Parts: sequence; structure tokens; C-alpha cells
Amino acid sequence: MTSFSPGATRQQLPSPAMSGLNVLICGGGNGAHVLTGLASTVGNFAKVSMLSIFKDEAKRIAKAAATQNGEIHVTRCREGPNGTDLLVRGKPTTITDNPSVAASADAVVFVMPAFAHGEYFKALQPYIRMSGSNAPGGRVVLGALPGESGFDIQAQHILGEEVFNSISLFALQTLPWAARLTELGKSVEVLGTKQTVDVAVTPSAEGKEALVTVQNLMAGPLPRMNQIPSMLTITLMNPNQIAHPTITWAQYRDWNGTPFDEPPPFYDGVNQLMDDMMMKISDEIMEVKHFIETNFKIDMTGVLDFKEWMIQTYGDDIPDQSSLQGIFHTFEGYHGLTHPMIKRADGKYMPDLQHRYLSEDVPMGLIVTKGIAELCGVKTPNMDVVINFASKALGKTFIVDGKVAGPDVNITRSPQAFGIKSMEEFIRKLNY
Ligand code: NAI
Repeated sequence: MTSFSPGATRQQLPSPAMSGLNVLICGGGNGAHVLTGLASTVGNFAKVSMLSIFKDEAKRIAKAAATQNGEIHVTRCREGPNGTDLLVRGKPTTITDNPSVAASADAVVFVMPAFAHGEYFKALQPYIRMSGSNAPGGRVVLGALPGESGFDIQAQHILGEEVFNSISLFALQTLPWAARLTELGKSVEVLGTKQTVDVAVTPSAEGKEALVTVQNLMAGPLPRMNQIPSMLTITLMNPNQIAHPTITWAQYRDWNGTPFDEPPPFYDGVNQLMDDMMMKISDEIMEVKHFIETNFKIDMTGVLDFKEWMIQTYGDDIPDQSSLQGIFHTFEGYHGLTHPMIKRADGKYMPDLQHRYLSEDVPMGLIVTKGIAELCGVKTPNMDVVINFASKALGKTFIVDGKVAGPDVNITRSPQAFGIKSMEEFIRKLNY
């Protein structure tokens, strides 16, 4: 394990409540660079560390940052005066691959695809402090941007009850930015910043205090952190689980294996079939929501019809709000993105079906939601079609005889993966 220390100089912003906070940002991709760059400019954080335990990534990031005085440059596109680009230069205190850095952390933030959360939980578990945090509320604040589905189930399972009960666990519903790395360890572009992002905190009574820290991490007023009542909402209202696997399914369900000359458009290519299927899956999720509200009296505010969620999230930035097709075709932030492909030596393209659109958004998305639907007795024929396609593409078995079962369920975050057999047990265990 090594630590690479570019050093620390930051502008000072007064905020007595946040004085002396040690922040640990975990991950090494697009979002982790943005958060590290931004949080490193918040002067009242005593220390901002970046941790990547993925291969030799920490070393590569530190080496690259060192060539520009240890700084990570974040370009906030069109967010400056008169729509100009704004350059933010943040200098993290440490870039390391050593998880023991968590021993002094008051706030720990995962910014990575959800399939990597488990590895980080395991690496950090021995070091998370159970008392003495400087964060408002006095508890270590630990969470993910975004949480995706089943974040809390996995956190409780790996951290153990004692650690889990001592921290404030938070999960954002989505990444606050559309972000693309331009050069590892050096520069990243924020193509867009969301206005508001829903956040759930467990225990929810600690939410107000925890949100002070989470909002400060954003290094500015946007996006506004909006606390929602239940972590179960983050699980069910996971937009990626609806869009990514469904668009992929429709694109390739009849594909005969012929290579592509060009990567096909992703959101620009949304057709009526995709629109219909996303809305049918959304309807199944709404049925689960209503079942839980009616039978268990849990406040599921924030679980919305998918089209409504898109309009609420992106609002005036969507010129055609009449249908999902209209939304995806006219929302500038999605324009130009293509299906993930692998380029062959002959210049042709093959689909990358191991991409996180399936490998993250099914095991940490749709299958978790299906698992909860199953506990509620809600049928999900449309979700099943997409999950069966994804299982085949990933070479995994997640469903047997229409139920969440099979040898690969243990890589998912469905309640079934943790041996949970009823909705009552699920709600009691996770304190919903
Ligand atoms: P990314 O694709 O840049 O993440 C890659 C990073 O994940 C790697 O650099 C590495 O640090 C880590 N990683 C990958 N495989 C790993 C493994 N096997 N073990 C441990 N670590 C591993 O992710 P990005 O773009 O920062 O996104 C983070 C999350 O935000 C994802 O859940 C994504 O779906 C979501 N999101 C991203 C958006 C974006 O604009 N980038 C927009 C909306 C959501």
C-alpha cells in the first residue's frame, strides 16, 4: 500500500460547522475526479483524500496530477459568467491506494459504478470510525454518488450491524453531474450539473445533519440536496435500471451478430418499442410502490412514473416532454451518446455487453427491484424479459422459474442474495 501526497493548499471558506473535516473520496473515474477536484477547493475541509484500490489506478492518478502541481482540473462547461466555461483547480491532500486512510475520515464518499461498492466496503470496514467524527451530528457520514439499488442492504451486510448503526449512511439517486474524464489524474469535464438531487439518509432522523456535509462536498449551491424519506426510494426509483438495460435489450434482442460500421446512437436512437417497454417497467415499479405504501405505510415520496421523473429532474431543459421518445431525442445532455462498443482491428464495431449498462444496472438495479416485487407478490413480466436478456448477455443466471434464484444471485443486491424471505423481514432488518 502506498500514499502519494501532492500536498495541500486550498482557499479558505468560512463555515465553523465544517471546520476540520477529513473527507475521503473513493473511486478513480469520471465522477471521482469531479468530486475530488471540487471538494479540494472547499477550504473548511481539513483534508481531502482520494482512494482508488482498483489495480494501479491511484499511482497513475497521482503521477499525472504531480505534473500539474498535484492539481485536478475540473472544467464546468458553460457554468461561468455569460455561459463561459469555468475552470476549477483542486489540489487533494493525498491520492492513495491504502484504505487505512479511512481511519481519520469524517466523510467517506463512493463515486464509482455500484458493482465496485462491495470491494470498497470490505476494504474500509476495519477502519470506519464508530465515534468521534467531526461531521455535524458527530457521526461518520458514508455514502454513494449514486447509491443505485440495494446500497443499504450491502452496507449493512458488509460493515456489520455495529458499524452500520453508528454511521449516517447516505445515497444520492443520481450522479450530480454528467462528467467525462479528459485525462486521468489531470482533467475532467462537467458537461452538465443537475439542479436538485434526491438523497436518502439512514437513519433518516440524522438526515438534516448529514446533508450539511453532503451539500458542502458539492462546493457550491448546485445541485441542491433534497432529502427524501426512505432509502427504499433510492432502490426503486433508480433511473439507470429502467433506461440502460431496456434500450440495450431493444437494440440487440434480434441482432444477428453482424458487426456495425458505426456505434449506434443510444438516447437519440430511442424508438417506440423502447419507449413502451420503459414505461411498462415503470408501471411495474409503481405497482410495487403502491403495494408498499398501502400495506406497510412507508412514505415512498420520490418514486415516480419514469416520464414524470425525467421531467421533474431536467425540467425546462427538455423541449419535447410529450413522451419518453421526445424527452430522449430533445434533451441536449443525452445528445450524441452511442451504445458502448468494442472496436475491432478491421475498424468495425461489436457491442460491449459487459458494460455497466448491464453489469451495474441489472445486478445493482433491476434484479433488486424484481426481488422486492417478488416479496410483495407483484408480477413483473416486462422486467423479466429485460433481465433474461441481460443474464444471457452477461453469462449469468439470476432468475429460475420466474423467481430471483440461481448461482449468480449472490453477486446482486437483491434481498434474496442476503437470505431475506419476506417483506416484513426486509423492512424490519433495514429499518424502513
Ligand atoms: P466510471 O465509469 O468513470 O468508473 C470507472 C472507475 O470505477 C474506474 O476508474 C475505477 O476507479 C472504478 N472501477 C471500475 N471497475 C472496478 C473494479 N472492478 N473494482 C474496483 N473499482 C473499479 O464511473 P463514473 O462515470 O464516474 O460513474 C459513477 C457512477 O455514476 C456510475 O454508477 C454511473 O452509472 C453513474 N453515472 C455517471 C454519469 C456520468 O456522466 N459519468 C451520469 C449519470 C450516472
